[in-house]
Amino acid sequence: MSAPKAPYVKHNNGTQIQTIGLGTYTSLGGDCERATLHAIDVGYRHIDTAYFYENEGEVGNAVRQKIKEGVIKRDDIFITTKLWCHFHEPDRVEYACRKTLQNFGLEYVDLYLMHWPYSYVHRSDNVLMPTDAKGEVELSDVDYLDTWRAMEKLIDLGLVKNIGVSNFNSEQLKRLLANCKIKPIHNQIECHPYLNQRKLIALCKEHDIIVTAYCPLGRPDPSKKQPGFIYDAKVQAIADKYKKSTAQVVLRYLIEIGTVPLPKSSNPKRIEENFNIFDFKLDAADHSVLDSYNNGDRLVKMEHAVKSKNYPFHIEF
Ligand SMILES: NC(=O)c1ccc[n+]([C@@H]2O[C@H](COP(=O)([O-])OP(=O)(O)OC[C@H]3O[C@@H](n4cnc5c(N)ncnc54)[C@H](OP(=O)(O)O)[C@@H]3O)[C@@H](O)[C@H]2O)c1
Repeated sequence: MSAPKAPYVKHNNGTQIQTIGLGTYTSLGGDCERATLHAIDVGYRHIDTAYFYENEGEVGNAVRQKIKEGVIKRDDIFITTKLWCHFHEPDRVEYACRKTLQNFGLEYVDLYLMHWPYSYVHRSDNVLMPTDAKGEVELSDVDYLDTWRAMEKLIDLGLVKNIGVSNFNSEQLKRLLANCKIKPIHNQIECHPYLNQRKLIALCKEHDIIVTAYCPLGRPDPSKKQPGFIYDAKVQAIADKYKKSTAQVVLRYLIEIGTVPLPKSSNPKRIEENFNIFDFKLDAADHSVLDSYNNGDRLVKMEHAVKSKNYPFHIEF
């Protein structure tokens, strides 16, 4: 537990965030609570969850326990969660946010993201992927600008400190920026060496929007030795040079290209490993090796939503 402390970056509104966050997707059944407790002990002060992950309660339990133990104050920790696609109708947004806060047992969240720019019909709060008789997900056509306006109101209500987006492409982001009162502070997007997102990162930087990197490790599968950038000899050689793992090298790369990575782990050792990346720097040759993997491969395609006019992956970035 002797990892150096993670540095912070400032948002366009003056608040700040640690440059690494704990991802929690698929962390359930007590794993998420244990992972969050351990992450806080290790030094993480940034946790990423979502209504869709159905683990907001576990994150909330862990955070409230660590506050009770005096390890952290509420202000010390930055919690991000996300509005799911069936809550996009503007008159459902405040309700959804209050429900999320109830799940956490907290009075506010630090960041509320619109999880996707497209929307689904609302059958019930718990039907996250409503489907029709043919089994196809029922899309709806709420304009994300209308959803955003309802999200802006949550700040005045004191329910959220900041708002942002996720999975917005360059055109969606520019349209939002041209029509918002409050600028998004983050765009959370898939980002790893196969999809290094240079162009979208540059656009976000131009507008002072922080990019958080999801699937930063490309969801490693040791049995298939995929993704290549975790298992290739070239990245292993870089890792050996710094006495780090390939995962640590990849996380370091993502920070150095200007993102805040969100590695998910429910394993105590890997939670520590992923945080222990602030005592080395990659050189230009290392960057060339990692850049060479960029082939545009996307893990999260959400093909069920391709028919939505707000599907984000029809264009290059
Ligand atoms: N906004 C969005 O639409 C969106 C989409 C996807 C994900 N996310 C967020 O981004 C987070 C990260 O993405 P992800 O969970 O999909 O993928 P990821 O972080 O790239 O990969 C998670 C996998 O990596 C393993 N792992 C963790 N640390 C490791 C290490 N040091 N070495 C080897 N394997 C390691 C984990 O296993 P163990 O748990 O066993 O360690 C888990 O199986 C999510 O948890 C979620 O918070 C957001």
